[in-house]
Amino acid sequence: EPPSWVADSLPSLSVESENLQKQIDELASFSDTPAPSVTRVLYTDKDVMARRYVKNLMGLAGLSVREDAVGNIFGRWDGLEPELPAIATGSHMDAIPYSGKYDGVVGVLGAIEAINVLRRSGFKPKRSLEIIVFTSEEPTRFGIGCLGSRLMSGSKALLKALETTVDSQNITFLDAAKYAGYAQDSVESVFLKKGAYAGFVELHIEQGPILEEEGVSIGIVTAIAAPASITVDFEGSGGHAGAVLMPNRNDAGLAAAELALAVEKHVLESGSIDTVGTVGILQLHPGAINSIPSKSHLEIDTRDIDEERRNVVMEKIRQSAIRIAKDRGVKLAEFKIVNQDPPALSDESVIRAMESASKDLKLSHKLMISRAYHDSLFMARVSPMGMIFIPCYKGYSHKPEEYSSVQDITNGVKVLALTLAKLSLK
Ligand code: GLV
Ligand code: MN
Ligand code: MN
Ligand code: MN
Repeated sequence: EPPSWVADSLPSLSVESENLQKQIDELASFSDTPAPSVTRVLYTDKDVMARRYVKNLMGLAGLSVREDAVGNIFGRWDGLEPELPAIATGSHMDAIPYSGKYDGVVGVLGAIEAINVLRRSGFKPKRSLEIIVFTSEEPTRFGIGCLGSRLMSGSKALLKALETTVDSQNITFLDAAKYAGYAQDSVESVFLKKGAYAGFVELHIEQGPILEEEGVSIGIVTAIAAPASITVDFEGSGGHAGAVLMPNRNDAGLAAAELALAVEKHVLESGSIDTVGTVGILQLHPGAINSIPSKSHLEIDTRDIDEERRNVVMEKIRQSAIRIAKDRGVKLAEFKIVNQDPPALSDESVIRAMESASKDLKLSHKLMISRAYHDSLFMARVSPMGMIFIPCYKGYSHKPEEYSSVQDITNGVKVLALTLAKLSLK
């Protein structure tokens, strides 16, 4: 960038922090569970209200707003050379059940404020700047994480899967999308054109304890761990909890319980602290105290920074599911790998821009990996990618106690604004 630009502009990079915090609080009120928890699920009324709120703010920031067929939202500030591939930023604003108000939201409202910061400073982008609000980063409703960005990155597998995807109420993906006002165009139209973006940067809370513990202001993400998810169904014969004697049972619930413990065992067998596995959903049918479970359903999340090691764990889980079904005389009705994603690496040039922005702003920073996944995992497939992390209280996330201070959010917005500016001028 012209060296004088940073020097001239730094003093005028001012974040309207109080206003930003007010917006974070307001957005949190679009929730299906009481404060301080936030629950905002894809294509529900609260999601639609939150979308309206954010599109309005984008308009006020002078961005031209459009949405694609699944509701990814784009707000564009045309650069002086609008034909060049743009620089994008953004995150998600759907919230898993009983979560907090910062996950994703900081990277959406923070991005809008970053644009406002640049405008107020008199900055003129060379490459256009674009904010993207991704549809359904969380897998809550349809079991598919990073749905919007995964599609944007050109996933034919997802395109196919969405033809038959339904939620737990048997509502199809397409009907749900139409309910929210989308899916007028074909879902395939969501695929990005090659080279649409010259860079993508996502601002996000760390969701881990490192920055706070070490007193560091900014995390510069170098890689995102590889996530995977599996759904499993067992079927037994059920029956009366008093009358069917123990030797005569084939309890689908106990098969699920045994598999949940096997997941933990196989994860620990990897011997690496970086391997994790969680059974976050475990459902028994019919769900009556005096009825032996005739069906069980598990959803298993497992991740690692090492893709191969994670795949070994997945294969062990599969072998255990088969063995448990055999031992217990139940049927393994389904073992479905919902997704098995590779990790992503940040781009050197984006890392350098984030580092130099942090230095210019005299903010302490460190390189780190992201153990959580993000839309950046998929944007990395179509664009040079980078992520900016800010500290959050005790690393809490995916629960109502999630918190980041106004100061930390302000720092993140400044680093984002300056990084976008630098990338825009390249
Ligand atoms: C994203 O929310 C994740 O589960 O990592
Ligand atoms: Mn999340
Ligand atoms: Mn998130
Ligand atoms: Mn299932």
